[in-house]
Amino acid sequence: MVKEGIEKYIRPHLTGFTGYSASTSPDVLAGKVDVAPENIIKLNANENPYGCSPRVAKALAACKHLHIYPDDGQERLRKLLSGYTGAPLERIVASHGSNTLIDLIVRLFVGPGDEVINSVPTFDIYRFSTQIVGGTVINIKRDADFQVDVKAVKKAINSRTRLIFLATPNNPTGNSLPLRDILEIAGTGLPVVVDEAYYEFGGETVVGLAEKYPNLMVLRSFSKWAGLAGLRVGYGVFPPRIARYLMAIKIPHNVSVAAEVAVRESLADLDYLQSKVKAIVAERARLFKELGGITWLKPYPSQANFIYCAVLKGDAGELHRQLESRGILVRYFDNPLLKNSIRISVGKPEHTDALIKALRHIRP
Ligand SMILES: Cc1ncc(COP(=O)(O)O)c(C=O)c1O
Repeated sequence: MVKEGIEKYIRPHLTGFTGYSASTSPDVLAGKVDVAPENIIKLNANENPYGCSPRVAKALAACKHLHIYPDDGQERLRKLLSGYTGAPLERIVASHGSNTLIDLIVRLFVGPGDEVINSVPTFDIYRFSTQIVGGTVINIKRDADFQVDVKAVKKAINSRTRLIFLATPNNPTGNSLPLRDILEIAGTGLPVVVDEAYYEFGGETVVGLAEKYPNLMVLRSFSKWAGLAGLRVGYGVFPPRIARYLMAIKIPHNVSVAAEVAVRESLADLDYLQSKVKAIVAERARLFKELGGITWLKPYPSQANFIYCAVLKGDAGELHRQLESRGILVRYFDNPLLKNSIRISVGKPEHTDALIKALRHIRP
């Protein structure tokens, strides 16, 4: 095909690139459904239904430094995160959401033609960032319970492999990965990313093992447990040499002054935030039980703040539309890696009630 105009200059592997499909925001539905945006029940992006700590909003309103660039070395921020994780400051790098750390890690290790191993279905940003730099994603299928096929992952390694991604708990399936599997994969010596964006809802972590493995990178986020998805702040615990490289190649000032204030206040209000995490975990158990009572859905056990369900009868896209018309947003999938299924974020008890009521009315 002859390319014309600006396309002549666009990197060939990016022409036709379809990007990442992000969740619908309630404002997009204004006028399309009979429910006012403020009454939309948003269970499609694994956000925290309780919001952030009230201390965050107060401190942001009082913040007098918004006109000053943040500290590019992230000294105060990394010290705070060191206190929270127990990892030394020189191992920590923060960023504008953990998504941008994924992108940064890919840029550090992967070039055109290099391979990245993904255990699918999983979080789609690993594919997205790899393809943008011209890398090739090697998809290894998970088993029927969405556990990683460790043997197949190891078999897929070759001289072009640069990175292996493991999400635990995994998005969208919600299951966590046994420690022995992570260690076996880390034992290959290849750079391994363990994405713990949902750690606080499950409690299992390999942060303490980062000392032992010079190739193990652990990612965390403030979007979910701390309710800061809109402010964008994530971090990782890295081997010190990798942390130094990431600090060197990151865009300057990649965490805003507001985000630093929000982290400080969140960590000063841990009891409050942990009480909300506890409420979400309790609600997850109730939602799982309620979904189990809907005969045409098959919910999978989750260690995160969402539940993945296979749709056994009818079409997941149609189910999504029917729920949307009632003002309830969930995520749906119907592609070769994720057949006819939905993912529901855990909301407040009243959100569960409304969802279950709607599901009982829908006839697939
Ligand atoms: C597994 C996983 N990793 C990372 C992220 C990105 O989180 P953040 O908001 O910190 O960019 C998400 C968000 O949905 C996720 O599901």
